[in-house]
Amino acid sequence: MAQGTVAGTTKEGFGATQRRDAWWFGPLLTFLGLTAFLVYGTWAAWQGNGYEIRKVRGGERFHEKGNHAVAPYLSPFYAPLIYDPNGTSHHAWIKGDIRPSWLPGWFPFSAGFLILAFPGLFRFTCYYYRKAYYRSFWADPPACAVGEPRKSYWGENHWPLLFQNSHRYWMYIACLFLLLLAWDALQAFWWPTAFGANGHATSHAFGIGLGTVIMVVNVILLAGFTFGCNSIRHIVGGRRDCFTCANNPQKLRTSYKLWRISSRFNEHHMEWAWLSLFSVGFTDLYIRLCALGVWQDWRII
Ligand code: FES
Repeated sequence: MAQGTVAGTTKEGFGATQRRDAWWFGPLLTFLGLTAFLVYGTWAAWQGNGYEIRKVRGGERFHEKGNHAVAPYLSPFYAPLIYDPNGTSHHAWIKGDIRPSWLPGWFPFSAGFLILAFPGLFRFTCYYYRKAYYRSFWADPPACAVGEPRKSYWGENHWPLLFQNSHRYWMYIACLFLLLLAWDALQAFWWPTAFGANGHATSHAFGIGLGTVIMVVNVILLAGFTFGCNSIRHIVGGRRDCFTCANNPQKLRTSYKLWRISSRFNEHHMEWAWLSLFSVGFTDLYIRLCALGVWQDWRII
């Protein structure tokens, strides 16, 4: 936004304000929360292991031959699991290592890195997150009625912020990811009970562990965040000029109902955004610590 004089004062410049409240507290919390998630998420994706709980615990032995999964969990940072180097994960689309041989050993390459950009860009371009990180990361503006560091505002119709308009396309991909995560959560009720010589599960039985509950809650929170997306509101009904004056009342009634449902979620989009962000990180942390043997998964049924 263009920088102006703070109302009722001649003071101008970055941080100039007549506000007496702790206006900086919200942006500071946002900065710390998003930074913590980015650092942890990048680190977890970099590891290339710990995305399942396997027979032999410990990061180094994760890909050991015959070290198959003993719980049906999969970390959301690795979902969908494009490949699994030791080829035993039933979640893996490709069973085997696909790391290019020409890649230097120090270069990070993992199944997590192959997929995280998609949900990441969905959040990066989200209308709520834009407000949050515009304020907390580059103080533009730092808060309402607080002076900004820049005098110009180009809006989101110029590069690089023009990119934010791609949100609707990331939304389609996010819906696909939500379906895949829901499928993983359903699979978390289906425990392997016997294994063949190659480490693949040969039989399963119904069961529930604490990880199952965590994965289901994670999907519910992600759904709450996704269903309140402004792009979804637009598609299901917001794009219509009128809900009552067209010539297809039945279709419009459905459209109106869907728009109302999406709007309900949208009213608390910020809360859904933070709860789902926390739950994605915590679901990975829970599975990772169980995979390392630091925590023991609690088998409920
Ligand atoms: Fe936030 Fe679409 S507006 S996810």
